[in-house]
Amino acid sequence: MSLTATDIFCGAGGSSTGLVAAGYELKLAANHSRIAIDTHSANHTDADHICADINNYDMRRLPTTDILWASPICTEISPA
Ligand SMILES: C[S@@+](CC[C@H](N)C(=O)[O-])C[C@H]1O[C@@H](n2cnc3c(N)ncnc32)[C@H](O)[C@@H]1O
Repeated sequence: MSLTATDIFCGAGGSSTGLVAAGYELKLAANHSRIAIDTHSANHTDADHICADINNYDMRRLPTTDILWASPICTEISPA
């Protein structure tokens, strides 16, 4: 049985593809961009998807997984 993962700020799926390549089962991916979610859905057909603003999303509604991967926007929360 593989470990499970949730990917928030998933973008088009780079981090998710890495998680799957590492052996994780991707359960859910979330992003606020419809284009990103549509692209991610095409790349990760077995995962569930949420198109929502993570800042205002009730995290208690996320499924329980072994890993939570989050790649927030560096341009607004760091000097990048
Ligand atoms: C650093 S990129 C993530 C890259 C992604 N993990 C990958 O491997 O391609 C940050 C992503 O967060 C999304 N994002 C920014 N603010 C958000 C918010 N408030 N809620 C959900 N997604 C958000 C952007 O659309 C962008 O795709």
